[in-house]
Amino acid sequence: MKFFIDSANIDEIREAASLGILDGVTTNPSLVAKEGKNFRALLDEILAIVDGPVSAEVVATDHEGIVTEARELAAIHRNIVVKVPLIREGLKAVRQLSDEGINTNVTLCFSPTQALLAAKAGATYISPFIGRIDDVGTDGMDLIQQIVTIYQNYGYKTEVLAASIRHPMHVLQAAMIGADVATIPFKIIDQMFKHPLTDIGLQRFLDDWKKNEAKLV
Ligand code: G3P
Repeated sequence: MKFFIDSANIDEIREAASLGILDGVTTNPSLVAKEGKNFRALLDEILAIVDGPVSAEVVATDHEGIVTEARELAAIHRNIVVKVPLIREGLKAVRQLSDEGINTNVTLCFSPTQALLAAKAGATYISPFIGRIDDVGTDGMDLIQQIVTIYQNYGYKTEVLAASIRHPMHVLQAAMIGADVATIPFKIIDQMFKHPLTDIGLQRFLDDWKKNEAKLV
């Protein structure tokens, strides 16, 4: 399973990259706005830290506008993946971008048939938003299962990128189902390291070692 960090915060991205488990980055307009920085400058910083797919989202909503913005973003760096909303104009653009060899991440996916359309349009990644589905009282993980099944049935190459992850259980369940990628906020990456029995066990080992006055070398 590939791990992306769902963040536009440079400190978080740098810290996650230093852990040696990071494969890429996803941003969105809300995450970028939170940082209060110039989008291009921010992307350059991210691209310098992580050598892997970096999703940058278009804000146009018409076919022409999306294609123009996507080409500009893709020209910045080979690692840029253009994030496109799952709307009719968006998928028209994804077909064109895919034919031009530009990688895309189709975002705001909330149904399996939307995901099927994205795969047919040639999307590189599909981003189903698990947490936002949970928020409205439906199980977001069912969507991941449905998409993985559909893509396996027909051999679509589009990668399933579990997004809107809110806790480590989302990562676990997405991994059990076989999602290709999880994009995870920094706080949740950090939570994944933690287990109270690890802390208790480590403390006991260290105390016993000290009692014995043993030396490693
Ligand atoms: O980046 C897209 C997605 O991960 C957003 O998550 O928490 O805003 O629903 P969230």
